[in-house]
Amino acid sequence: MTLRISVIGTNYLGATHAAGMAEFGHQVVGVDIDPARVATLAAGRSHIYEVGLEPLLARHTRSGRLRFTTDYAEIADWADVHFLGLGTPSAPDGSADLSQLHSAVDALAPLLTRPTLVVGKSTVPVGTALALQERLRVQAPIGDGVEVAWNPEFLREGFAVEDTLRPDRLVFGTQSARALEILEQVYAIPLTEATPVVRCDLATAELIKTAANAFLATKISFINAMAQMCQAAGGDVVLLADALGYDKRIGRDFLNAGLGFGGGCLPKDIRALAVRADELEVGVLSQLVEAVEAINDGQRNELAELAIEQLGGEVTGVRIAVLGAAFKPGTDDTRNSPALTVAERLHAAGAEVLIYDPQAKLPPRDNFVQVGSVEEAVAGAEIVLHLTEWPEFRYLDPHALGELAKNKIIIDGRLKLHAPSWRDAGWKVVQIGRASTL
Ligand code: UDX
Repeated sequence: MTLRISVIGTNYLGATHAAGMAEFGHQVVGVDIDPARVATLAAGRSHIYEVGLEPLLARHTRSGRLRFTTDYAEIADWADVHFLGLGTPSAPDGSADLSQLHSAVDALAPLLTRPTLVVGKSTVPVGTALALQERLRVQAPIGDGVEVAWNPEFLREGFAVEDTLRPDRLVFGTQSARALEILEQVYAIPLTEATPVVRCDLATAELIKTAANAFLATKISFINAMAQMCQAAGGDVVLLADALGYDKRIGRDFLNAGLGFGGGCLPKDIRALAVRADELEVGVLSQLVEAVEAINDGQRNELAELAIEQLGGEVTGVRIAVLGAAFKPGTDDTRNSPALTVAERLHAAGAEVLIYDPQAKLPPRDNFVQVGSVEEAVAGAEIVLHLTEWPEFRYLDPHALGELAKNKIIIDGRLKLHAPSWRDAGWKVVQIGRASTL
């Protein structure tokens, strides 16, 4: 059954969700307060780099199934269901800043004159859904005719379209049979493809999302702590992770040791979880999250210190090549990027840092120079740092680069380079957690 769906917020999450809903056959209107973004999307173009998004936008803006507007009056009583796909960035104290959700709800509520379902997709502190429902009901002419449900999104950058069209699982946090029925109609296509569904209450739905992020972050910090142990004891963390991964209960994913996690989601979402856990006096959870964060920060420090140590303790005026700026391969996103933290530390210590990344465009700044190729970064460098594991870095020619570099020293911060080939070409290869190869 075709539904009329509005998606409020058209950044990363909202734009992808709106396009996905149109692909599922629904009539969709995306709403945003930014007229420039609305104009771009309405023309079938994407303002963000995400594989497969632009073709989907182009197809459905052309077919007429997908429109964009800045006017809430167009969607308020038109839509069968309103999705909230707004950002929840970090407030200065680390809690989630809900102001975008509040503004959207405040704009929508006074226009609601018929019974409506509002479904949150954003990552929020537990308790937000009910608070938003109250905020809507107080302001809406239809009053208690507004109901809130929660349907968290698990999409990964670089795979946002795929994760939206073919989700691992769906979570429907609802308070009534009617709300559940509507969500089942919205997702009729993935449901016919046997996608697992968890039907639950609002609090569980909100918590599932933060728990998933916290568990992934914990896996990464666990393997990074084991990398430290391997380093101290002379073991190899990659072989260790492989062996753990063969246990189906553990799994090999998210056990890649290295510089740790970054990006626009995991760090802010686990911080907000820790703040919320403290508010609810669940100290054991905030302590766990704090340990995960401390290990993650430690990896960045350790790598910067290791580089300084390899250069004899003094880096003033020393040229350093950094390969990678994005927080992970496959994206141009540099938010909370481990690679950039390391680059900034080395610059602060006096080094001249040259960065190359295949996608990320750094805003012009005076602390380091972005160059257009690996060769330009490596020419004259006294050390090379491999900090984001773009696949193309695996296929670099260590012989050719050896001719350009001043010193043949490379720190592989992501443990992905084929160290023997680099050693054969005369390089010293340093990998934290592969102590046997130091
Ligand atoms: C993440 C979650 O995966 C997604 O479900 C959620 O909705 C949003 O946050 P994303 O931010 O796109 O998605 O990044 P992800 O692929 O999860 O990687 C996060 C970080 O962890 C990256 O910096 C990556 O380099 C790092 N990472 C990942 C590791 O250091 N080791 C690993 O084994 C895996």
